[in-house]
Amino acid sequence: MRKQIAAANWKMNLTYQQGEQLLDDILAANIELKDNQEVIFGVPFPYLTMAEGKVKAKNYHVSAQNCYNQKSGAYTGEVSVEMLKSIGVKHCIIGHSERREYFGESNLMLSEKLDLLLGGGLTPIFCCGEPLSIREAGTQNEYVEKQLEESLFHLSADDLKKIIIAYEPIWAIGTGKTATTEQAQEIHAYLRSVLAKKYGQEVADEISILYGGSVKATNAKELFSCADVDGGLVGGASLVAADFVEIIKGLN
Ligand code: 13P
Repeated sequence: MRKQIAAANWKMNLTYQQGEQLLDDILAANIELKDNQEVIFGVPFPYLTMAEGKVKAKNYHVSAQNCYNQKSGAYTGEVSVEMLKSIGVKHCIIGHSERREYFGESNLMLSEKLDLLLGGGLTPIFCCGEPLSIREAGTQNEYVEKQLEESLFHLSADDLKKIIIAYEPIWAIGTGKTATTEQAQEIHAYLRSVLAKKYGQEVADEISILYGGSVKATNAKELFSCADVDGGLVGGASLVAADFVEIIKGLN
């Protein structure tokens, strides 16, 4: 059975002390997860060890928000998969639309990051999703299909199964405008069908596909109730303890 996942993406928010407090407040809610449920905190690099120390007692996980597409060397300011691995990090978000837009990350670059992450035994949380212009033109399916094809389709079925996918329509990120449950279910089902076409239904059925884009305490449960939505990748609402607690409770 595929995992149902509540993942926080703090982005470039909070001081170290605020991050500690937020985690303490969320952990204090003492939510009991079912066997098929997972909670992951995508925190800034300097907070990874602190966050891991706090959440491991609850069997929650931490995630980096990025890594570099080279193994090591003269890449000032970058962080490698090996570095993440050496501090016990097991997850890494890649391909967030903010990184694609502000840092020019291409599908090819992401395929290289995927190989390094999988080679290091980390779980990639691979983000995809279309801008508003594409949604308005009605070509979102083709757009996200190409993102999957160019970044993921060189992988073996065994490796593909190790990935978490996050579908995040750019027009819904930080805008307060959430995809409707119909829109989310439709494109998640499409993404799964694209995976099934290439890797077979059994493999496609094992992959968690999270929805991201203005997930809130008030809409999480409904979104997560869609057959092909396996949880969420949450920005703004993950910075408020009470809201993220509700979102975790919204998992199936
Ligand atoms: P918001 O939840 O703030 O819309 O952000 C979504 C996101 O980008 C998560 O990665």
